[in-house]
Amino acid sequence: MTAKEIRQAFLDFFASKGHIIVPSAPIVVKNDPTLMFTNAGMNQFKDVFLGEAPAKAPRVADTQRCLRVSGKHNDLEEVGIDTYHHTMFEMLGNWSFGDYFKKEAVDWSWELLTEVYKLDKSRLYVTYFEGDEKEGLEKDTETYELWKQYVDEANILPGNKKDNFWEMGETGPCGPCSEIHFDSRPDNERAEVSGATLVNADHDQVIEIWNNVFMQFNRIKDGSLHPLPAKHVDTGMGFERLVRVLQGKSSNYDTDVFQPMIQFIAEKSGKKYNSAAKPGDADWADAVAMRVLADHIRAISFAIADGQLPASNKAGYVIRRILRRAVRYSYQTLNFKEPFFNELVPLLAEQFKGVFDELYSQKDFVQKVILEEEVAFLRTLSAGIRRFNELTSIFASITSVEYPEGTIKDIPTGRKIKGEHAFELSDTYGFPIDLTELMAREQGFAVDMEGFEQALQTQKLRSRAATAVSAGDWVVLRGGDNTEFTGYDEMLTQAEILKYRKVTTQGKEQYQLVLNRTPFYAEGGGQVGDTGNLMSEWYDEKKGNLNFEITDTKKENGLIIHYANLSPYYDMETGEQKEWELPNPMPTRFQAAINMGNRIMTNANHSATHLLHAALKETLGEHVNQKGSLVNPDQLRFDFSHFSKVTDDDIEVLERIVNQKVREAIPLKEERSVRYDDAIASGVTALFGEKYGDYVRVITFDDKFSKELCGGTHVQNTAEIGFFKITGESAVAAGVRRIEAITSYHSQDYIQAQSRQIKALKDLLKNPNDLSKSIESLIEDNNRMKKELEKAVLMKASGLKDQLAKTAEEINGINFIAQRVELPNADAVKTLAYHLKDIVPNLFLVLAADINGKPSITVIIDETLVKEKGLHAGNIVKELAKEVKGGGGGQPFFATAGGSDLSGINNALAKAKSFVS
Ligand code: SER
Repeated sequence: MTAKEIRQAFLDFFASKGHIIVPSAPIVVKNDPTLMFTNAGMNQFKDVFLGEAPAKAPRVADTQRCLRVSGKHNDLEEVGIDTYHHTMFEMLGNWSFGDYFKKEAVDWSWELLTEVYKLDKSRLYVTYFEGDEKEGLEKDTETYELWKQYVDEANILPGNKKDNFWEMGETGPCGPCSEIHFDSRPDNERAEVSGATLVNADHDQVIEIWNNVFMQFNRIKDGSLHPLPAKHVDTGMGFERLVRVLQGKSSNYDTDVFQPMIQFIAEKSGKKYNSAAKPGDADWADAVAMRVLADHIRAISFAIADGQLPASNKAGYVIRRILRRAVRYSYQTLNFKEPFFNELVPLLAEQFKGVFDELYSQKDFVQKVILEEEVAFLRTLSAGIRRFNELTSIFASITSVEYPEGTIKDIPTGRKIKGEHAFELSDTYGFPIDLTELMAREQGFAVDMEGFEQALQTQKLRSRAATAVSAGDWVVLRGGDNTEFTGYDEMLTQAEILKYRKVTTQGKEQYQLVLNRTPFYAEGGGQVGDTGNLMSEWYDEKKGNLNFEITDTKKENGLIIHYANLSPYYDMETGEQKEWELPNPMPTRFQAAINMGNRIMTNANHSATHLLHAALKETLGEHVNQKGSLVNPDQLRFDFSHFSKVTDDDIEVLERIVNQKVREAIPLKEERSVRYDDAIASGVTALFGEKYGDYVRVITFDDKFSKELCGGTHVQNTAEIGFFKITGESAVAAGVRRIEAITSYHSQDYIQAQSRQIKALKDLLKNPNDLSKSIESLIEDNNRMKKELEKAVLMKASGLKDQLAKTAEEINGINFIAQRVELPNADAVKTLAYHLKDIVPNLFLVLAADINGKPSITVIIDETLVKEKGLHAGNIVKELAKEVKGGGGGQPFFATAGGSDLSGINNALAKAKSFVS
């Protein structure tokens, strides 16, 4: 079977068992602070398991693209070194939401593996949870008994909490699990050593292929387990491993999932891929590098296609790190000195056509982003590698490290790269720390991680980027977690608090509140969360009502969370402002009111964003896709795929189109519940990397113009937008442009400020016909005059030279000149002074001038006088400056001073003479 057939057989099998087949969720997670990337098929159903959202069907199945590169499940270090871990992999899964449980899960997995895929039963091993006393969890004998019907007892193995109790993250749904392993060793090896001893022992030929989890608990922050409202099944089969087993290969990379990519890399690098290479073999490094490239391109491409661009922090940095890791292998091991990695994208896109079309339809964009990243990293990579080699070569010849401190600079103790050096590699050369670690490991070095962290922290503190949030557990006031969002229809409502908790962000305490109903829009789809106020129905005789100021509203795992500050109250007796203690019992009934002014402006900006999006597609082309958006009360910011700068002409066209739609006063058409398939068929604009439900909300302004899937809030009529004005156009990343714009009274203010400025300019220029022309000629005139003036000044200075030379008075063998000169700047005075020095021997010169209303004094003394008579221009000018109420100084030969009193110039000149006589 080909990989495609194997995938299809899985889906068909579970469809035949009453499962609905659902699409994969995006690989990038948006609404869950506990998770950056989808790391298991069950992520998209987390809310269902927790009982916070209804299941769309009791049984579903799919293939989910997953990424295990951070957090609890991280396989990055294994990738390429071994043959069965990946960054991005597909997880085939079947789910029961409170429907079937252990029996069917066991029965069907066995049926599929042995009857459909026809795997050799004797090579299959299964595990069950042995229990855990500390957690108070019992041994899963039920699963053991179920397996006994099919599997030889010798092939049923108990497993501990690490292997047989599956958890999504530090918190969240979890439960005992039962794994299925496959032993693909040759018969003679199997006869010698039983596969049972190799299960979960990191053996590359005895590998886990499927995990069946029986979801029963929720782990909360304090570490305790709480039973879930219902029991569920969550299974995950590693697609690439399954393909390998079915295709009889000993490495995932030898299957048709990876071979096309590996062969392409081999051909382009002029090297051979040797699947059997072992550490120490000459072609081992090449084999690892090829596997890494073939693997990493998948993680990076899908992350970008699902909306996560490489960046310098958070999820974007994880992607950049993986990318740089791949580029380093490509450059250093496979010898690609020019960008190459990006060339794998078209191949990959082709492979996933019809499976995950997100990639195919954006392949040019994805390739371009990767290319730019490669180009950027290649700029510092070779210098970084040189620096790295420098750091390690100091030790290469050193066998003992008993060198006295300081003889060779920067020797870390042992074969360890100092933290500050690892930081230098990261900060200056862009080496992610795990890349430095990897390169170090290759040469038998360790990295002082503590030192690195310290260096990093110091920098972080400096840039004050640390944002620590810690949250306490929820206090439940009323059961249930379902918030009815009423904000499409009203701005104020009566609500009850379902639960609340205290959180600390950067040392500041806040509350998070969940209500039964709310008009507060939670940040999403680029639109910021609403702000506003909650006022309790309950009130205290002395303190009044309890008020929460809502500073933000966000969605977390499907819950609408209000970020609240407890407002102070005014003490009736003293009039002082005082802090509340939360009353006990906590009042539950509140009036919830959003900040209307902000919302109205946000609506205008959001609707304008839709119009702009449509106008962009119309003006620049259909390749324009939304890559990011921010809509707040002040402005809108729209990022989209496009390869060149948007010209000024196009900006005007965009403004014209959008404003035309504003003038047409198009009423909002809001359809709250359209079947997703119908919406797509009607040509609606949907976003890549966005997870939509079966029913979607469609926002239309003019059926023929703008039709988008959107959960945000909008104007009732485009006329409310008032006037749309683009204020900025720029590049955000490779192939991504950004437009910033404003609407309504903000654009009015903006235009008024602009025209006020233009009017002021026109007034200054006496109302010229063409403003820019007359400013241009003004600048030209100015430049010309500057040059002429410079010339004139120089001429004047040299004319003065002869005149002044004649005034020289000989005193004690010194030619003394002290004069006031009319020159416009200090440079001219200095030039004149030096000219005089050239023609008058034994000169003692003092020049005073009025420079822009301020007195200036310059003293030059011939070197021979300095030497023979001990005269010092710097000291003398200081004395003279006193006469003009100023100060100065300089060298023995030349010094200058400035002052504030022009009337003192004559005294200063007179005083000068005293130094000579
Ligand atoms: N959630 C389990 C896993 O990821 C089974 O799907 O292994």
